[in-house]
Amino acid sequence: MGWNPGQKAAMRQVMLKTDPGAYFYGRLDDHPSLFSHGVNNDTNTRDSSDDEDDNTEVQVKEEKVLALEDDRSIVSMISAIRFGEDQAWLSYYITEENYRGRGYGLATFNRALEHVGHLRKSVGLNAVFAQVENYRKSGFTKSSWTNERRRGSARDVVEVQERELANRIEKNQVEGLVLLSDPRVDWEQLPAMEKRYAGFNRPEFVKDWVRYHANHPEHHRVGVAFLSPDKTDPVTGKPLVLGYACARPAVVSYRIGPLYATDGEVARNLLVKLSAEVVAAETKNPLGVPLVFDIDIVQQNEAAMALFDKVGWPNVISSLRMWKGEVPPYDASGVFGISTAEAG
Ligand SMILES: CC(C)(COP(=O)(O)OP(=O)(O)OC[C@H]1O[C@@H](n2cnc3c(N)ncnc32)[C@H](O)[C@@H]1OP(=O)(O)O)[C@@H](O)C(=O)NCCC(=O)NCCS
Repeated sequence: MGWNPGQKAAMRQVMLKTDPGAYFYGRLDDHPSLFSHGVNNDTNTRDSSDDEDDNTEVQVKEEKVLALEDDRSIVSMISAIRFGEDQAWLSYYITEENYRGRGYGLATFNRALEHVGHLRKSVGLNAVFAQVENYRKSGFTKSSWTNERRRGSARDVVEVQERELANRIEKNQVEGLVLLSDPRVDWEQLPAMEKRYAGFNRPEFVKDWVRYHANHPEHHRVGVAFLSPDKTDPVTGKPLVLGYACARPAVVSYRIGPLYATDGEVARNLLVKLSAEVVAAETKNPLGVPLVFDIDIVQQNEAAMALFDKVGWPNVISSLRMWKGEVPPYDASGVFGISTAEAG
């Protein structure tokens, strides 16, 4: 399974700020009994299992990361990102193909669970269906929804399926549809939106994720929001955010996430605006990333399924959102695209 989360060096800064010691790898020396574990921020990469550095300031040393990427003795890996005291998310679970079936993967998985700790309320992951039974055995006994990864052409959205709406957006004729960097957008409302719809309580991560997208148009990262024309947030007094969405270039496609919206029409506007912005950026200054969008939508959200069926984007892979501990309360009717498969 190949991962295509984003452009790695920049994404790393956001992820490692959230939890500096969240990436584990299993290393195999010449003799199999010398299998040991490392964590991405080890000062001594041979050292294994203490977390005392976990809360130190992150300084991502590119040379160190590149050295790990080239290290042929690494045979397994996983990430386990902790959000506050209560929640965590597991991803990137993989064993090198030639070394599968020898216990390395499970040992690395259990190392990640140690990092997460036994007291955490909710630990989640998105499971490919082949691994669902294994995760159940490891305590992930509950599930919330099925994701479908929908894939389609951003250019076709703008030039074919949603041409009329794209034209209106280009002429700024859709009131309330703005970039996330617009000063009218109240970022304070965004963490609460993610909590309400997806169940995550991670305000700092949400703001970092939004900042990562909204502040870097030169890298073709885009963030958009839909503001209510007449309602305001009772706390901040700023226009009520009805939805927001982000897109980022990865390697073989652009990834969209999240796409949260109060209803299908708001979601449609956000999707078309994201498409228009990315197509314009690519036309002006080609990055060479295919104008293909990948988005993980929730099967239980009928309006989301209808939106992506209408633009004709097929499902390329399904996964089950599973939880160890409690399933955090959520409302999938607002999830038109999850935040990121790799961090939930
Ligand atoms: C999933 C994967 C990482 C397992 O790695 P592995 O090194 O082959 O697994 P192990 O050799 O440690 O497995 C040992 C045993 O534990 C089981 N196991 C593996 N991971 C487990 C887990 N997380 N929880 C419980 N059991 C697990 C295995 O099925 C196997 O059981 P068996 O002895 O009854 O056959 C590996 O198959 C892989 O890389 N797959 C492709 C990537 C992928 O699909 N990742 C998961 C994305 S959700």
